Amino acid sequence: MSAAVPKKRVAILISGRGSNMVSLIAAARAPDYPAEIVLVLSNRPDAAGLDRAREAGIPACAVDHRAFADRASFDAALQAELDAAGIELIVLAGFMRILTDAFVEAWAGRMINIHPSLLPLFKGTHTHQRALEAGVRLHGCSVHYVVPELDAGPIVAQAAVPVLPGDDADTLAARVIVQEHRLYPAALALIAGGGAALEGGRVRFFTDRARDASAALLSL
Ligand code: GAR
Repeated sequence: MSAAVPKKRVAILISGRGSNMVSLIAAARAPDYPAEIVLVLSNRPDAAGLDRAREAGIPACAVDHRAFADRASFDAALQAELDAAGIELIVLAGFMRILTDAFVEAWAGRMINIHPSLLPLFKGTHTHQRALEAGVRLHGCSVHYVVPELDAGPIVAQAAVPVLPGDDADTLAARVIVQEHRLYPAALALIAGGGAALEGGRVRFFTDRARDASAALLSL
């Protein structure tokens, strides 16, 4: 019998309700999932996701950004928590705090984010409203490696949903978040399981199956 491949040790960083975090924790319960969620950190002590993580048995703590004089000292405190837990991959899930370039570069190729648009469209905030105003027929979500420029890193996986007549930002967000909850665990599995990696500033997929898993066009 061959030795089991060790699961990647993952920290999820949140700022809010943590619904993507919950979907990642649920997926990681599968015995053959290649990552283990060992820590949840929030920059906001009142983030509802912290309690949801604890209820799921995952150690969760706040590193309150307001307690630090600058971004570098906040990031150093995050780094200390990540080091103490032996973290190998960082997953940003609704983490709404800008990280320093030095922190991002230290985690290059080992930190991913989910963004609620089909990047490179609609970087930043209010993505659903902006998609409606732009009149796009398809909208969606993207998982990307984190680079210093906001929402600009190489794309690992995307899922698309239709924009329907009568949509407002809330109905569109509700359609997209369903796909976020499906896409993010799949993208993390791709990376943690060695199906995809950052190479020379691009995402390399190591098998056709991995490439196929990275894109989905969804109908209703
Ligand atoms: C998600 O829609 C995520 O894509 C978005 O915040 C929401 C967090 O929800 N992230 C960003 O906008 C990052 N720029 P959740 O806390 O329920 O996972």
